[in-house]
Amino acid sequence: MVTISPSSPETGEILMTDTPLTPPPGDSFNPAKAVPARTYAALRGAGKEAFARDREAVDELRRTIHEKVDEVAQENAAALVRVVRHLAGRGYTQFADLGCGKPVQGMDALGLPDLYDVAAGVNPDVRWLALDSDQLVVTTCRALLRGPGISVVQQDLRQSAKVLDAMGSHLWLSKPVVVILGAVLHFLTDEECTDLRFALRARLAPRSLVVLTHVTGDGLDPANVERGRAAYEKLHGGVPIYVRSESQVMGLVRDFSVRDPGVVRTIDFMPEEGERAPLRDAPHFLMVMAERKDK
Ligand SMILES: C[S@@+](CC[C@H](N)C(=O)[O-])C[C@H]1O[C@@H](n2cnc3c(N)ncnc32)[C@H](O)[C@@H]1O
Repeated sequence: MVTISPSSPETGEILMTDTPLTPPPGDSFNPAKAVPARTYAALRGAGKEAFARDREAVDELRRTIHEKVDEVAQENAAALVRVVRHLAGRGYTQFADLGCGKPVQGMDALGLPDLYDVAAGVNPDVRWLALDSDQLVVTTCRALLRGPGISVVQQDLRQSAKVLDAMGSHLWLSKPVVVILGAVLHFLTDEECTDLRFALRARLAPRSLVVLTHVTGDGLDPANVERGRAAYEKLHGGVPIYVRSESQVMGLVRDFSVRDPGVVRTIDFMPEEGERAPLRDAPHFLMVMAERKDK
């Protein structure tokens, strides 16, 4: 059984001791069980490889969470495209897409490019690490994402030292890196998020950025949020999901310097940069970008 015992780089404080890790989502291929990567792709309208279980789960999520749950996923993806294009245009040349999800190659409802292609379209020399726990995600990334600067790794984010090793093998950690955590930290406990944050803080160079999106129940009826959360967990065979508030999402980037506009709805993040879904009156994810300041 895999165990972790992370500690703070500053204080040496032990956060968890020998906690056994359950298998992460999709670590072995099983079409009989819905997994977040495939249901998310299906919500984005890119579900042609979704299996019956994934399609059933998506139908149930529409019934349980919101009829516009598809658009929440689509807008999340659009917001990430906007920010990657913006940052590549500002000279960032190294990206780590942690919990990257399946490539869609414009076959989703919004016709969006994959994030690597967005960055490579701005700078063909970009270095890009795509990392996910899901075997099918990793296999499709290897098959479909082509470019000189790309590397794909199957890894559980809860093993932060290994995540940082993978980043260090492919990227120059002495130079700024953009770490993308799109719709993935809500699968990790507070302690697991803290462990990853400590590891990133200890190894990233100044000017590095963390960009994250996260499910929230802010502004929604708490009973509905709990129903949706429980349904998501059940439909995905017990994969836990943690719904966090704006202040809790802010806490995920504590020790980093939050950039404008702070923690906002995805739809309000760099809207001037381009494509987005028409989500005004529906649920939404939260988004924040924060910078690694001097060590
Ligand atoms: C909802 S999808 C988001 C995909 C993409 N980041 C985006 O925002 O468009 C979440 C992804 O995180 C991955 N994931 C979930 N838990 C993980 C873990 N513990 N380690 C690595 N990847 C994980 C899933 O396999 C899935 O591909």
